[in-house]
Amino acid sequence: GPTALWGGRFSSGPAEAMAALSLSTHFDWRLARYDIAGSRAHARVLTRAGLLTDDELRGMLAALDVLEADVVSGAFTPVVADEDVHTALERGLIERAGADLGGKLRAGRSRNDQIATLFRMYLRDAARVVAGGTLDVVEALLFQAQLHPDAAMPGRTHLQHAQPVLLAHHLLAHVQSLLRDVDRLRDWDARAAVSPYGSGALAGSSLGLDPAAIAEELGFDAPAENSIDGTASRDFAAEFAFVVAMLGVNLSRIAEEVIIWTTAEFSYATLDDAWATGSSIMPQKKNPDVAELTRGKSGRLIGNLTGLLATLKAQPLAYNRDLQEDKEPVFDSVAQLELLLPALAGMLSTLTFDTERLAALAPAGFTLATDIAEWLVREGVPFRIAHEAAGDCVRRAEARGVGLDELTDAELAEVNPALTARVREVLTVAGSIASRDAYGGTAPSRVAEQRDRVVRRIEEY
Ligand code: ARG
Repeated sequence: GPTALWGGRFSSGPAEAMAALSLSTHFDWRLARYDIAGSRAHARVLTRAGLLTDDELRGMLAALDVLEADVVSGAFTPVVADEDVHTALERGLIERAGADLGGKLRAGRSRNDQIATLFRMYLRDAARVVAGGTLDVVEALLFQAQLHPDAAMPGRTHLQHAQPVLLAHHLLAHVQSLLRDVDRLRDWDARAAVSPYGSGALAGSSLGLDPAAIAEELGFDAPAENSIDGTASRDFAAEFAFVVAMLGVNLSRIAEEVIIWTTAEFSYATLDDAWATGSSIMPQKKNPDVAELTRGKSGRLIGNLTGLLATLKAQPLAYNRDLQEDKEPVFDSVAQLELLLPALAGMLSTLTFDTERLAALAPAGFTLATDIAEWLVREGVPFRIAHEAAGDCVRRAEARGVGLDELTDAELAEVNPALTARVREVLTVAGSIASRDAYGGTAPSRVAEQRDRVVRRIEEY
């Protein structure tokens, strides 16, 4: 017989192209186990409402167990006539429990409240997986920071040499943004933990069912306050898509730096062979494909977010079939991150930094000029004049092709009488870095504290 859940008022089945357009099992089948969990909870509230006997409940739950085992083993799969995951699973239930019992489960629920609930369940699990993978990337960065606690590097603004910083401080900057992404996933979960089950098609249930009981059984914090909102809202999906797009953007900024760092010109780091690729024509090539795919996929994650927002825009309440388009973009974002995060963690943890080169480049480009200015300020010179004097030092050193620390005592005195030989004490990379010792700064003691706080934060997750 027909498997559609809505055949009664129709004199014919759907046209072929209509059915093909409608079909969603190729992507919503991954919700099958969540659907079955929802069915178990629903069967229990039907029983409590007196709509199933205890015997019927036992039979229903036994059939759902068999169905789940068959879904997991692959013995039961959707057929073309099954419009969506819900249709397929009702067919599977009826095949296992018989039409009389199997046909009772649909009372008081709609695919509209079902899909809104299952999608939330799926995304809440996905959020935990993505957060775990993100923490693996964090661990990789932390590993490198711990491996190189004292290594200096040129800190940059505008990609130009700015001031020396610790490599560990730079790596921990990326850690900070990734930990915010993990926090965002957790904050999101508090809003996503609301169950639309019991909202029905849009107006709620008339059969004395208890949405709070289902919500609790499915691990939600509460049932939806409003059945229209429960079935029609997808901001939980859009917010999830944003959080993972933001994560993608943060990852792409790390990736971009690895791409730059591993060029011949920078040579800050080399990629491990296992995490690089070669060229089919140029035998010498070692390419940073993991980093490039990270950068590339971040664009895809942004597209998934904007596509979903465009789908949601201007849809009248409550459910519209447009909403079937809500799932693939978010499923795709999750699938891409599941591929990306382990590869990125592997690539980052196996990078080899050339710390000697980083240290040698740290003072290049007169990155200690700010230290001259600040030394003069400590000597009582107004910053406006100190800045001017330090700039004068840069101009002279550049003209002579020497470093700031190589200016003679006479040259220093010519620039400003307050500029004595003692200034050379701050004209070292280590001295400059150590002087930035306010909370959050790059001084080794502050970076060590920061790293310890990060480690504690991760332990608490
Ligand atoms: N497959 C639909 C979706 O993904 C859920 C079913 C609701 N369909 C309906 N005709 N009311 O949104």
